[in-house]
Amino acid sequence: MGAVYRLAMREDASRLYDIRRRSILELAPPTMPKAEAKAWATKLTPSGMERKLRELEIWVAELDGIVVGWGAIQGDTLEGLYAAPEFAGQGVGAGLLGMLEGLMRDREFPSVHAEASSNARDFYLRRGYRASGPQTPEGAWPIAKELLA
Ligand SMILES: CC(C)(COP(=O)(O)OP(=O)(O)OC[C@H]1O[C@@H](n2cnc3c(N)ncnc32)[C@H](O)[C@@H]1OP(=O)(O)O)[C@@H](O)C(=O)NCCC(=O)NCCS
Repeated sequence: MGAVYRLAMREDASRLYDIRRRSILELAPPTMPKAEAKAWATKLTPSGMERKLRELEIWVAELDGIVVGWGAIQGDTLEGLYAAPEFAGQGVGAGLLGMLEGLMRDREFPSVHAEASSNARDFYLRRGYRASGPQTPEGAWPIAKELLA
């Protein structure tokens, strides 16, 4: 997959908001109950997306100049990963994840931490993550992956 990665800009806010919302609504079910996906999707407002852009390091993946996914990191923590549903299953998510792990490895973080949603847990476990704690009250699964072998 020939994705190009770049840092997100403020002008990306509405596209990133839209990708997040649609990816959750369309890709999380049926593994995640529809109502749960809807509650998760609506937790973020457009202004919340703008705040994320200010507070997190957000990278986008582009295919032929189209933003097809994004991932956010803060220190050694993965704060979000989303693929546009019309590009799902084409390696956008895995490509972004590998790129973000590479950044954290270059910064010499020993491991990466995240809270996987129930629908995405197996996606991470197949990519070297392990459970690192009990399910959170919000239903997420703490996971971690060692970066420095
Ligand atoms: C998790 C997510 C980012 C993965 O993105 P993606 O670009 O579809 O991921 P990839 O193409 O790299 O891999 C998807 C996996 O699903 C499989 N798949 C096949 N067809 C698929 C389809 N139509 N839709 C989704 N996944 C598909 C792929 O083969 C791959 O399987 P693998 O894990 O055995 O390799 C994406 O599903 C998403 O945005 N989900 C909603 C938001 C979410 O849950 N984010 C994670 C929060 S912790």
